[in-house]
Amino acid sequence: MQGKFQSKGTSYGDPGFSIFLRSAFSRHLGFDNQDLKKPIIGICNTYSEINRCHTHFPVLVEAVKRGVLMAGGIPLEFPTISLGEVFTSPTAMLYRNLAAMDTEEMIRAQPIDGVVLLAGCDKTTPAQLMGAASADIPSIMLTGGPMLNGEYEGRTLGACTDCRWFWQEHRAGRVDEAELEAINLALAPSAGHCMVMGSASTMAVCAEAMGMMLPGAAAIPAPDNRRLRIAEETGRHIVSLVEQGLRPSQIMTEEAFVNGIRALQAVGGSTNAVIHLVAIAGRLGIPLPLSLFHELGQSTPFLANLRPAGQYQMEDFAKAGGVPAVLHELKPLLHLDTRTVTGKTLGENLDGYRRPQHEKYKAVIATLEEPIADTGGIALLSGNLAPRGAVIKPKAASKALLVHTGRAVVFDSVEDMERRIDDADLDVTPSDVLVLRNAGPVGAPGMPEAGMIPIPKKLLQQGVNDMVRISDCRMSGTAFGTVILHVTPEAAVGGPLALIENGDLISLDVPAGSLTLDVSETTLEARRKAWKRPPHHESRGYTRLYEEHVLQADEGCDFDFLRCAAVDKEATK
Ligand code: FES
Repeated sequence: MQGKFQSKGTSYGDPGFSIFLRSAFSRHLGFDNQDLKKPIIGICNTYSEINRCHTHFPVLVEAVKRGVLMAGGIPLEFPTISLGEVFTSPTAMLYRNLAAMDTEEMIRAQPIDGVVLLAGCDKTTPAQLMGAASADIPSIMLTGGPMLNGEYEGRTLGACTDCRWFWQEHRAGRVDEAELEAINLALAPSAGHCMVMGSASTMAVCAEAMGMMLPGAAAIPAPDNRRLRIAEETGRHIVSLVEQGLRPSQIMTEEAFVNGIRALQAVGGSTNAVIHLVAIAGRLGIPLPLSLFHELGQSTPFLANLRPAGQYQMEDFAKAGGVPAVLHELKPLLHLDTRTVTGKTLGENLDGYRRPQHEKYKAVIATLEEPIADTGGIALLSGNLAPRGAVIKPKAASKALLVHTGRAVVFDSVEDMERRIDDADLDVTPSDVLVLRNAGPVGAPGMPEAGMIPIPKKLLQQGVNDMVRISDCRMSGTAFGTVILHVTPEAAVGGPLALIENGDLISLDVPAGSLTLDVSETTLEARRKAWKRPPHHESRGYTRLYEEHVLQADEGCDFDFLRCAAVDKEATK
């Protein structure tokens, strides 16, 4: 084959000269000109020194390069935007689409024949899958893997579930400064992404279940030597994918997304994955209505006992067999003929697979015959308060609150909430419903992870650990509580959340899938007439572009001009 390095011209108006020039300039890359006729494999690296979840990427890159070279390709690493979740303000989600554009355009612009997508922290994985879906050249994802378990006084610690839990305990006065500091030291003990089933772990699981990552790659902890081996194998496989010409659009089919959603539901994954999967599918013209997530959630058993919805963490999940063990259990429910980056189908990948046998592993990954629960980890809600839907993780919520009616206590923005939540004069009781609005994709902007509204301090001190909370923003996949998120349409575009007043009654019924504002339509109409759209936050730059073009949560929060036009046609069929 003739690779793109030798054939993909630049724009000097003379294709022959362009190749001549490239040849001269590439001599300093250290490869012989003959080598550059081999498949050129880009390694799209989201590493930066500010992104702590990616600290080990340099050794992974070396392993991928070895694999590429052994298979007869030439590896060339290139950087894209790095989004470290806790180091990116106001929220990494604001920049997911920018990262996706960076990935797509650099894959398309450079003379590479295939690409290894190296991601890890929350938004990097969906951003790369979105970009690769649009660029559509042979691609394999390799995530960096989760951190090892933390431990404090014999208790396993998980970032960031325990970050939140112990901070809440500190606010309640039950953990002092000295103990908090000792816990802080142990919360994030190694390289890798958050080690509970948060957004990073979830997106890795989905990428593997959809066939974009080698079997077993999602769960191996970052410091485990098996990650180096799978990185090398990834390098070998991308060369073979280039030879086969197998592209993301042939792997991430509608059936593959169904497999991904089944895996998401079975592992009790992050609610953020709902937004990301819709966005990735949107790049390929595949509509994923929230009703599909609901339907698949109702028919997918809950198998993985992982925090924040369960008890164990990713290190235990990897020992219990990781994603292949989950897919093995789910086999009767999956599309087994979908193609994967191994060049084989999902069914062929699972042929002959044997789960780790020790009884203790069944406590981490249950069987199809004896699941933890009959339905999946994410439930969808709708009603007059969320006409286009909202999400909740019932397994990470308080059972007693899943059917609940309470008075609304409304916060108009994240800043308003921060200012008033601990005010001793705040009129709030444990049975009230905390509402946060103007925190959605347009409203914040960027839909921050503020949905786990802190319990007001005075209630925390009375021993209240959970309340019903509703917002148009997101929450971290590592967070927990009776938290309703992604209310769509959001308040900033005139969704019903904008019309709630303090004291209105809100009814939640998770088993029935409903979220209702108990206010008459006549009253709501009068409030709607008085409502004024908030002004844009920015007059220039990327944030202004974001505010003008971001889509709502049920459309994946992608930019309107990046979604494949076919998806809207498909959706209206
Ligand atoms: Fe990077 Fe949690 S901060 S995955």
